[in-house]
Amino acid sequence: MNTCIIGCGAISYVHVDSVLKTGGRIVALADIDVEKATILKDKFHLDCAIYTDYRQMLDSEDIDVVHICTPHYLHAEMTIYSLDNGYDVLVEKPLCTKLDDIERILDAERRASGKLAVCLQNRYNPSNVKVKQLLDGKEVIAGVGMVAWNRGFKYYEGNEWKGKWATEGGGALINQALHTLDLLQWYMGEPTSVTAHYATDMLKGIIEVEDTLMATYEYDSGANLNFYCTNCATSMFPVQIMLATNDSKIVLHPDHVIVDGEYISTEEQNASVGKQCWGGGHYILIKDFYEKLRDDKPFWINGVEGAKVMRMILSAYASNGNKILLEENL
Ligand SMILES: NC(=O)c1ccc[n+]([C@@H]2O[C@H](COP(=O)([O-])OP(=O)(O)OC[C@H]3O[C@@H](n4cnc5c(N)ncnc54)[C@H](O)[C@@H]3O)[C@@H](O)[C@H]2O)c1
Repeated sequence: MNTCIIGCGAISYVHVDSVLKTGGRIVALADIDVEKATILKDKFHLDCAIYTDYRQMLDSEDIDVVHICTPHYLHAEMTIYSLDNGYDVLVEKPLCTKLDDIERILDAERRASGKLAVCLQNRYNPSNVKVKQLLDGKEVIAGVGMVAWNRGFKYYEGNEWKGKWATEGGGALINQALHTLDLLQWYMGEPTSVTAHYATDMLKGIIEVEDTLMATYEYDSGANLNFYCTNCATSMFPVQIMLATNDSKIVLHPDHVIVDGEYISTEEQNASVGKQCWGGGHYILIKDFYEKLRDDKPFWINGVEGAKVMRMILSAYASNGNKILLEENL
């Protein structure tokens, strides 16, 4: 498989490492900052071309798969352009930053000859998969999710696109807590309404987006999902997910699951490259995506699937203290 990477920042290292492990070939890199692309190329001793314009790269090189690893606000445009030009596409989370973009991307996916995958790699983590299996055939009647992480001044310093509504599209929810909300959506399905409150507390004056958010999602079935995320914890805590069905309570941990007090051990999936909180799922997702490229079905985490958590996130921002129906925002 001939792969190119658009955006040669922090996460691109995990993509290159994973592609090489699958036996894929990196044929080109694109970044508006040539130095970033050059450092990435040198790190992995790649024999590949470097471009500052991704469109020029796509026009010039023999490419099968496009990996989009750029700032959030560029995902929609780059995904649509790549799909419209016949490529298979893996886009980093979030799928997009605006509700309007969801339909534009889904239209492009419908008319595309290639496949779209969204990088929701935590769906491959053993604990998360175990919970999905435990819930098979059961209805979740209540869910709780919490992400309490630490992202201080240093995280935002020198990172122009982060911390701004126009370029990051939000803060703790769309960036750090997206995977956890996506898992809850995977377990519980799509809610009907949301009431969300958010603020910039400890990072006031440093970022304009929220550093803390709480949301209550309600379901037609009567189920509730209570969700809290913050970048202001003074430590990095493991993500918390708790779920209730009619006959059991499940607590999810990175390396085990507790079902009604019973401990079930699972393997923690550590990252081989990059931050531990990214987990080891990138390689497994990329391998799975590449293996399924030539079958005739959409990838299981495609645009339609990636759009579900986006509706939850973008509706939470639109709610801003009011209860709103998710459908009203489509
Ligand atoms: N799946 C995960 O767990 C995970 C983890 C970390 C980051 N991410 C996502 O990966 C994406 C990138 O994050 P990052 O931390 O690597 O950011 P980063 O700022 O380190 O890298 C972004 C890169 O994109 C380049 N860029 C900007 N505009 C461009 C353009 N028009 N064309 C080509 N390149 C351009 C920048 O120069 C930079 O090198 C984000 O969407 C982020 O949310 C996902």
